[in-house]
Amino acid sequence: MASSPAKKKAANRLVVEEATHDDSSMCSLHPATMERLSIFRGDVVLLKGKRRRSTLCIAFADDTCEEHKMKINKVVRSNLRVRIADVVSVHHCHDAKYGRRVHVLPVDDTIEGITGDLFESYLRPYFADAYRPVRKGDLFLVCGGMRSVEFKVMEIDSAAELEYCIVAADTEIFCDGEPVKREDGEKLDDVGYDDVGGMRKQMTQIRELVELPLRHPQLFKSIGIKPPKGILLYGPPGSGKTLIARAVANETGAFFFCINGPEIMSKMAGESESNLRKAFDSSRRPRRTRPPSSSSTRLTPSLRTGRRPTARSRGASCPSF
Ligand SMILES: Nc1ncnc2c1ncn2[C@@H]1O[C@H](COP(=O)(O)OP(=O)(O)O)[C@@H](O)[C@H]1O
Ligand SMILES: [Mg+2]
Repeated sequence: MASSPAKKKAANRLVVEEATHDDSSMCSLHPATMERLSIFRGDVVLLKGKRRRSTLCIAFADDTCEEHKMKINKVVRSNLRVRIADVVSVHHCHDAKYGRRVHVLPVDDTIEGITGDLFESYLRPYFADAYRPVRKGDLFLVCGGMRSVEFKVMEIDSAAELEYCIVAADTEIFCDGEPVKREDGEKLDDVGYDDVGGMRKQMTQIRELVELPLRHPQLFKSIGIKPPKGILLYGPPGSGKTLIARAVANETGAFFFCINGPEIMSKMAGESESNLRKAFDSSRRPRRTRPPSSSSTRLTPSLRTGRRPTARSRGASCPSF
């Protein structure tokens, strides 16, 4: 309390780290950080991210989390419009009340083909005894059976027009109405680091080689080191090479272009080269935009996957095979 405002401001700014849990109402902090910020286990905290986005989470202690970091999962990161290694600020939230009525709607592209009662199969188990905080406008992902459904918090206590609340035992949850359409930048089920199982050593190496130069190119410029231009992942088919590339691209915001080996190869003289040239041309073209959907990025079934998140806005250089 006695610390200067500047110091206090710095203390509650934490670097986003990938979560080891998969709960979108949870954030994990080091116990020492919690003590410094006077946050107790189970407290509801307000997290502020980018583009004036904020959300609520329940704070948990995790001594594997570094002191200047906070672990939040993909859903929370998406609500805050932050990625791993971005900074979020943590604030006390003493005014989150138990809500009376919460209106949520499913996102249309996640309930295609799902029949039955969404409330009974998804919402009731998700909220039961969990005292989850929700914020108007946020998405949350509920896993049930074989599918995950995304919901959007449409309204909280319509009379009082609350921005956030805690869903308690007697909070009424409504999910009547037409499913909502997804807005740009809201997709939560993009592959992220937390979808890659195991491979910790490899992931650390890859993130150091790819993420650092993409996110902080000035760092390399200032110390005069050329960042690596490409990396080669090798391993048997299905071992997760494409998955890693996709995860790195999504987490860093890089443009991902997947070249499918057999589609490039041709028995006609010169056609393979021409196909390759075309592929490179189209990988350079979008630059500032992300591919329209994952359908345009096909998987590469080859043993050797010359893989790197390709060039785009952050000034990354072009691919070299
Ligand atoms: N380490 C992993 N963690 C999670 N899923 C994995 C992993 N490795 C493979 N998979 C699963 O297998 C699928 C195929 O992996 P993929 O990345 O296409 O393999 P590769 O490119 O090495 O042939 C992925 O979409 C993913 O569902
Ligand atoms: Mg592959």
